[in-house]
Amino acid sequence: MNIVIAGGSGGIGSAFVEVLARRPDVEKIIATCNSHSSALDDAKVIWQPLDLTDEAAIGDWAAQTDEIDWLINATGILHTPAQGPEKSVRQIDPAFFLMNMSINALPALLLAKHLHGKFRHGRPAVFATISARVGSIEDNRLGGWVSYRASKAALNMSLRTLAIEWRRTLPNVAVVALHPGTTDTALSKPFQRNVPHGQLFTPGYSVNCMLSVLEKLKPADSGQFLAFDGERLPW
Ligand SMILES: NC(=O)c1ccc[n+]([C@@H]2O[C@H](COP(=O)([O-])OP(=O)(O)OC[C@H]3O[C@@H](n4cnc5c(N)ncnc54)[C@H](OP(=O)(O)O)[C@@H]3O)[C@@H](O)[C@H]2O)c1
Repeated sequence: MNIVIAGGSGGIGSAFVEVLARRPDVEKIIATCNSHSSALDDAKVIWQPLDLTDEAAIGDWAAQTDEIDWLINATGILHTPAQGPEKSVRQIDPAFFLMNMSINALPALLLAKHLHGKFRHGRPAVFATISARVGSIEDNRLGGWVSYRASKAALNMSLRTLAIEWRRTLPNVAVVALHPGTTDTALSKPFQRNVPHGQLFTPGYSVNCMLSVLEKLKPADSGQFLAFDGERLPW
């Protein structure tokens, strides 16, 4: 299998790279990184710097990429060194809102736009993006974090729309949104105090759970929003 991990330098992305590199059925992993690369050095893994908000860079990079069996997009932000997610809509800052949109929602669409030809091999394939349960409109009972929630809801709608389009044009591909569970990474670090005991996953645990879900996927499952344990989440 040829695999692309977009955002391979992140907590969850690097765990995907590490776990998949150990599998004998995986031939090659292209892992993209943005501001920093990973310490993981493995003969199967090719690290490539890529800003996933830069369409021209994605186009140039995609043109050099081989056929893809699985693409997993693990890019995202929740906070910056200067700003955290909002507690109230009174805290809305247009630049932070748009940054959430451009990093959490847009990359999946740009990857689909520039890589669709790499899935035209006819073998069952996967186009998965890490979303978040808090992006579910129906499941939103707590409020808050409006830029992050809205960007993940936009991502979810983008993936659902892509799944419908690719059902016609690329029927071998399962397009899915995944919820990883609360996972111990830089993204969740400032918000881990209130996580109930036993519900903060290591990246390795979360990734192994999500891989069990991906392994069972068939092209007919395209268009679903799935949690780490396989639960089908409401959009
Ligand atoms: N951790 C959780 O509890 C949790 C829960 C629900 C959903 N999620 C989702 O899981 C995904 C992975 O999050 P994580 O916890 O692994 O966070 P993380 O450790 O902060 O990783 C985020 C990744 O996004 C990349 N990234 C940010 N801006 C980018 C850009 N412009 N271009 C390319 N890459 C960019 C980062 O690259 P650099 O570091 O190289 O800049 C990094 O690889 C995110 O979509 C997040 O929303 C996480």
